[in-house]
Amino acid sequence: MSKTNPIPWYNLVAPLYDLSVKGVYNRARRETMRQLQLEPGQTVLDIACGTGENFKYVLENIGKSGTIIGTDYSAGMLAQARRKIEKNGWQNAYVIQADARTLSPAMF
Ligand SMILES: C[S@@+](CC[C@H](N)C(=O)[O-])C[C@H]1O[C@@H](n2cnc3c(N)ncnc32)[C@H](O)[C@@H]1O
Repeated sequence: MSKTNPIPWYNLVAPLYDLSVKGVYNRARRETMRQLQLEPGQTVLDIACGTGENFKYVLENIGKSGTIIGTDYSAGMLAQARRKIEKNGWQNAYVIQADARTLSPAMF
């Protein structure tokens, strides 16, 4: 596995990612939402969204009229995010596979 490219690693750990970070990041996610002061109807771009663990927190704030777009380079992490979107029936959550270093407005 490459030491400089983290994506194969994230592909490998994707199925276990949520379990392994749950207790670590959840407080930070809530605090981030508090500081962002999101409002209903806003569109949020979550770059390197991973498995989409931020989505539920974002959606609680932007509501059904808002939109969350997640991007990540790891197909494995995005597969988990897509599963989460489908399981929760989120109609206003989307994910795009893309390298954060080469994002451009044309992708959205
Ligand atoms: C520690 S995880 C964080 C995931 C998510 N933001 C969260 O809060 O749980 C880092 C994420 O960055 C992604 N990543 C790393 N390099 C990237 C790149 N160049 N472009 C897009 N995503 C990248 C990985 O695939 C992984 O999903």
